[in-house]
Amino acid sequence: MLQDKKIIVGITAGIAAYKAAILVRALVKKGAQVQVILTEKAKKFVTPLTLATLSKRPALSALANEADGTWHNHVELGLWADLMLVAPATANTLAKMANGQADSLLLTTYLSARCPVVVAPAMDLDMYAHPSTRENLRRLAAFGNIVLEAPAGELASGLVGQGRMMEPEDIVAALERVLGRGRELEGLRALVNAGPTHEAIDPVRFIGNHSSGKMGLAIARELAERGAQVCLVAGPIALRLEHPRVERVDVVSAREMLQACLDRWPGMDCAILSAAVADYRPAEVAPRKIKRDGEALRLELVPNPDIAAEMGKAKRPGQILAGFALETNDELRNAQAKLQRKGLDFIVLNSLAEPGAGFAHDTNRVTLVDALRPPVPFPLKTKDQVAADIVDHLALRLGRAGNMPDPGSVQQAAD
Ligand code: C5P
Repeated sequence: MLQDKKIIVGITAGIAAYKAAILVRALVKKGAQVQVILTEKAKKFVTPLTLATLSKRPALSALANEADGTWHNHVELGLWADLMLVAPATANTLAKMANGQADSLLLTTYLSARCPVVVAPAMDLDMYAHPSTRENLRRLAAFGNIVLEAPAGELASGLVGQGRMMEPEDIVAALERVLGRGRELEGLRALVNAGPTHEAIDPVRFIGNHSSGKMGLAIARELAERGAQVCLVAGPIALRLEHPRVERVDVVSAREMLQACLDRWPGMDCAILSAAVADYRPAEVAPRKIKRDGEALRLELVPNPDIAAEMGKAKRPGQILAGFALETNDELRNAQAKLQRKGLDFIVLNSLAEPGAGFAHDTNRVTLVDALRPPVPFPLKTKDQVAADIVDHLALRLGRAGNMPDPGSVQQAAD
């Protein structure tokens, strides 16, 4: 996908700039032609010599070449590129990009670029969460740029939270998807639910689970980037997603999530239900904080509605409904039974046994179990790549796959 693609890598002055060298190397190894543009301050973190050696081209910074009096033509650079990436993108550069400032070669090139522009922000967690940064990212996404939200993890400051730059190999995979992606889902209306639900015990306590919402957000982003209009119904999750075609509805409990999903379902073409809905809730919510009195405390739990099954019942012909399943035994048989019981068209079967798969991990290993096809197992992949596989399958089911190979037929041929 990257062979002979012309890629501008913009590097700004954050500590994650040291990873930009690895990124440039990875892109060159994949056959891309890479032109590095650094801001002046980025040179304090990574040297132009390193980047020029790795990219096999001079790494540019200044608007003009002092030595021979010529200028670095940002218009030509902007037109040359098939894709422009800014990684790491600091809060400062994001703010300038969001406001059309043009005081560096990187910014003038960004304003001149006609190609897709991808930003991979990196900064400390409080800067990342600051309303001005969020607003700038929202604006950049609204302009049509692709925001690779910073994953959570340990930061250079020693703090832990969302703000570290996406790993170079994941950025490379994201660029491959951007360059390979069609707009085959233009006009499609898709509902995605994500995250856990919280079931109140009293005003301060709840029953919940470890779902981070990563998988659901990755699916919502993938759908939107292929042109779909997405309604994301999210349980209580900390992760963010900026995309002009994603409308987010925040809910807390399973019953709220059911209502939000059922209200919107008639106007949708498809739904992917990735939420880890709490199966039970306390029969009663104590009106005041329950006091500890040294005695055992018994909570009576009552079953929650099954959102997938309710949507399955309300499904009209032509709508595609997909769910997730996490099984510990008899995986395939249980998943197939669940398809029938809940009225689903396909199920994404997760394997909890696999190291690195499941809750809060960045990777997942899934098998697609479809009512109409033999199961399709996939290897361990990042959640973004798994989202792309799931959306490929959905596109196929909706008859919008273009000339994409049918994974079911590929599987049959392999058998
Ligand atoms: O029955 P099980 O929990 O294994 O089914 C998982 C699938 O059903 C997921 O798609 C999940 O979002 C959905 N589900 C639901 N409502 C529930 C429980 C699960 O929609 N109460």
